[in-house]
Order: sequence, then C-alpha cells, then structure tokens
Amino acid sequence: MISRRNLLSLAPAAWLAAPGEVARALQPAAAPGLTRVKIDAEQVTARVNPRIYGQFIEHLGRCIYGGIFEEGSPLSDAQGYRKDVQAAVERLRVPVLRWPGGNFVSSYHWEDGVGPWERRPVRFDTAWFAVEPNRFGTNEFIEYCRRIKAEPYLCINLGTGTVEEAANWVEYCNGTEDTHYAGMRRRHGYKEPHNVRIWGLGNEIYGMWQAGHKSAEDYAKIALEAAKMMKWVDPSIQLVACGAGDPDWNLAVLERLASIVDYISVHLYVGGDDYYELLGSVRRAEELLRAADSAIEIAQAKTRGRRAPGFEIPLPTARTQIAFDEWNVWYRKRDGRNRQVRNKLEEPYNLRDALWTASMLHVFQRWGDKVTMANMAQLVNVIAPIITSPKGLYLQPNYFPMELYRAHSGDRVLHTWTEGPRFATKAHGELEYLDVCATRAGRRGISIGVVNRHRDRQLAAHFEINGALPGGRGRRFVIDGPSPDAMNSFESPRTVQIAEGELSGLNDRFLVEFPPHSITLLEFST
Ligand code: AHR
Repeated sequence: MISRRNLLSLAPAAWLAAPGEVARALQPAAAPGLTRVKIDAEQVTARVNPRIYGQFIEHLGRCIYGGIFEEGSPLSDAQGYRKDVQAAVERLRVPVLRWPGGNFVSSYHWEDGVGPWERRPVRFDTAWFAVEPNRFGTNEFIEYCRRIKAEPYLCINLGTGTVEEAANWVEYCNGTEDTHYAGMRRRHGYKEPHNVRIWGLGNEIYGMWQAGHKSAEDYAKIALEAAKMMKWVDPSIQLVACGAGDPDWNLAVLERLASIVDYISVHLYVGGDDYYELLGSVRRAEELLRAADSAIEIAQAKTRGRRAPGFEIPLPTARTQIAFDEWNVWYRKRDGRNRQVRNKLEEPYNLRDALWTASMLHVFQRWGDKVTMANMAQLVNVIAPIITSPKGLYLQPNYFPMELYRAHSGDRVLHTWTEGPRFATKAHGELEYLDVCATRAGRRGISIGVVNRHRDRQLAAHFEINGALPGGRGRRFVIDGPSPDAMNSFESPRTVQIAEGELSGLNDRFLVEFPPHSITLLEFST
C-alpha cells in the first residue's frame, strides 16, 4: 500500500519557493548544487508502450513452485495459485508476462506440461540442475495471465526443440480448426483458443550456457524456419528474435529475420557493490540499445524491398522493435547450478537497486518509440521484487518503482533539458545526480520522475514548465529509506516503501528538494 505521510517534513526548507525567489536561486554562484530542469509540455519525444512494465517468470528455484504456485499451501487456492502472491502481482498491473524461460526453455518440451497431471513426466532440468515436476504448464500459465490481466508471452525452445514442435505449440494455443493440437487443448478443458500473440524465438542461444547453443548463422536458419511455420499456423502472431550484446550477432540475425520478426531482444544484468558504478551502469543499457538500434537500421537498409519468397504470411510493416525482455541487478546469488541449493538466485535487493530500477524505467520511457516491451527478470523469489516463504511474503525495494511508474507515469515522454551537478564513474563516464524523466497522459497532466542518485545529500531542482500551466495542486510520491543499503525483510517489511504527499502552490516555475538516494514522482494537472 502507498502510505500517506506528511512529506513536507522531508524538505522543511524551500519545499516550494515563490517564482521570484526561484529566479534568484538560478544564479549558479548562488546555488551551486541546484539542478535546472526545463520541460516542454508540447514536445513529445517518445510514446510509451505500457508493455515496458512487463515481467518474466521461469522454472527456476522458487519462482513458480513455492512462488506463484504452491499446491497444498494454506495460502493457495484450490488450483494451487498463491493468493497472497497474486495480490502483490496485481498491484504491479503487469501488462505482459514472459514464460517459461530463460535458460529453462532451451531444453523444455511444452507437451510435457499439458494434460492430466498424473500423466505429465518428471524431468531433469539441464538449465538449473533441478527436478521439474511439470505441474505448471501452458494452461496453468495462461490461467495465471488471465487472473492478473497480463498478456502472455511464450518463448519457444530453439535449443533442443524442433521447428515443428514450435508450430504445434502455436496450434495448441491458438488453433480454431478441428485439428490434432487444437483438439488436444479442447480435451484439456480449453474450448476457446488462448490467442497468444507474442512468441519468442528462443532464449540466449548465443551462450555456451544454453542447451543447444548456436552460432548466429545457425540460429538465424532455424529461427527463420520456426517463424515461417508458426506464422503459417497463425499469421497474427508477433515474433521476437533472440538478440545479443554482440552487434555482429544482431546484424547476422536481423539480416535473415528482419522481414519476419517484430522484435529483437536485449538482455542486461548488472552488478557490483560500488554505489556510483552500479547507478552509472544504466549507461550500459543505453549502449546496448544504440547497438541494437544500429543493427536494426543496417538490416532494414540491406533488406529493404527484399522479401523471402514463399512466406505467404503478412509481414511486419513497422520497423523492428526492441524487446528488453530480461533486465535486473544480479551478482550476489550466482547459485543457479548449485545442485544443493533449492532457493536459487534469491538476490537480496536494497534501496540503491531500486534507484537503478527507476533509472532503467526512465531509459525505457525515453526509448519508448523503439523499446516497446521490457520484462524485468524475474517476478517472484528469483532475482525478484517479491520474496515468499511458506507463511507469507515481503516486497523488496525494487518492487516500488515498478508499482509507482506503472500507476502514475504518462504514455508520452516530454522534451526535458537538465543541467546540474554530476558524479563520475570509472566505467560509465559522468552522470547527473538527478535523473529526470517527464511524461504526460493525454492532456490531463504531467508526471515527473526524479531519481536523486546522490548517496548523501538532499538536492534541489528548479523546474520550468513550458507549454502548459500546472494547475496549482498535485501529489508527490517518494521512495526513500534510512540509507542506500536499506532493505525490507519478513521482520521489517516496510523500511522501504512508497509515501504519498501533497504538492501545492505549483506554477510554471517551482523548486523541489529531493532526499538523498530517493525516487520521487511529482504528479500534477495542467
Ligand atoms: O534470469 C536468469 C537467467 O538469466 C535466464 O534464465 C537467462 O535467460 C539469463 O541468462
């Protein structure tokens, strides 16, 4: 829950200054630590697709079993879904949910996970060295998506799977005719098609850690064949090609697939205890995006007007989009392949990690015209914002920016100029302490996200809004805590949370102070 407390106490001095005072404060000598922000409410620089607030669940550790699904638990319903977890997930209003992997999918056969439970095989999972009971499969996943009102995003097995198996999966999910796999779905209790629109063509196939890993050329070949067959079964589906950090991979893949896929994927995990290096690493996300975008541009230019013959399916008309379908901080728990560990990858997150999360959302918002989907990895227990025990759950700090931005950001990014004090990093250059991203929802109002990345100091920003007049009052949401290391736990679940307060006296110019290591969202009508 968003708690209401009086936020004015957070910034007792100059919370809001009169326009005259602000103008004086703008003299650099008078206000050396001030950040100047100019927002042009009439200049939209990107449109934000709500799918950037997507999530990902994988058969890994306790993400599914013991996370969202726990049969026999007093906290679960008759179908085995954890009700408390579902309530926490619903607060995130997850627009799209990716499943079943991740590395897991590269040796997963979907037919193992459908039909009567007693007939499903128990397998050894070669991705995470664990026993997979197959109690949770396609229908349980779709069922979960319907409950939380998320769009399902299935990733196919292009490690050890076949193109035929992939096409059969599309038929099982979406088939409407009287055919084998569509009939199988009906026999399994689902008369109506699941209508799964988004399909990933394999996961991280470039990596040696992947079952059935391949070179770019080999991957592109099998992915093209899978894409064709899947679209022949259902021409309305959208496909995500597997991208990599390596620009050569992306180019090789897109040269062959750009005319059939809708997206190429980008993954990023960052880590390290150094506070500023970690926060600076959002620059790595931008680097990866620029590289993927260049590959898209080059592939587009090379393949323009060229169509592979014999597709006989509607081809994407739009430029290839980017699906940032795995991203997070992940460095503390690298125990995925430790056979002794059951609670794999249960990364503890602190407030600093939440600041990074908010800055990543800013990156996705600014890149909104190109990044039209993103999926945080992962949703529950495994490098996740929600941690469960058999008795309950708590929310990690990185849960809150996901909740806040999904609920209170607009769908249009506004042109924003900033100038303010900076911090230096070794790997990522200099960045401004205040990371500002302004959005607008229709004509209704403006929402400004501000991450104060200064570890120790409260920082002020002077805002100048052009092209719209703030309507006097608004709200301010703040995520902060006693230190950047602050965490939540079962014992103290609310050390980091969202606090809500009022904003008043707004004008086209105003001054706001931001607590050290905090995330703030200012929201006001215009
Ligand atoms: O999210 C954890 C793992 O990270 C995924 O299974 C894989 O795709 C990536 O390497």
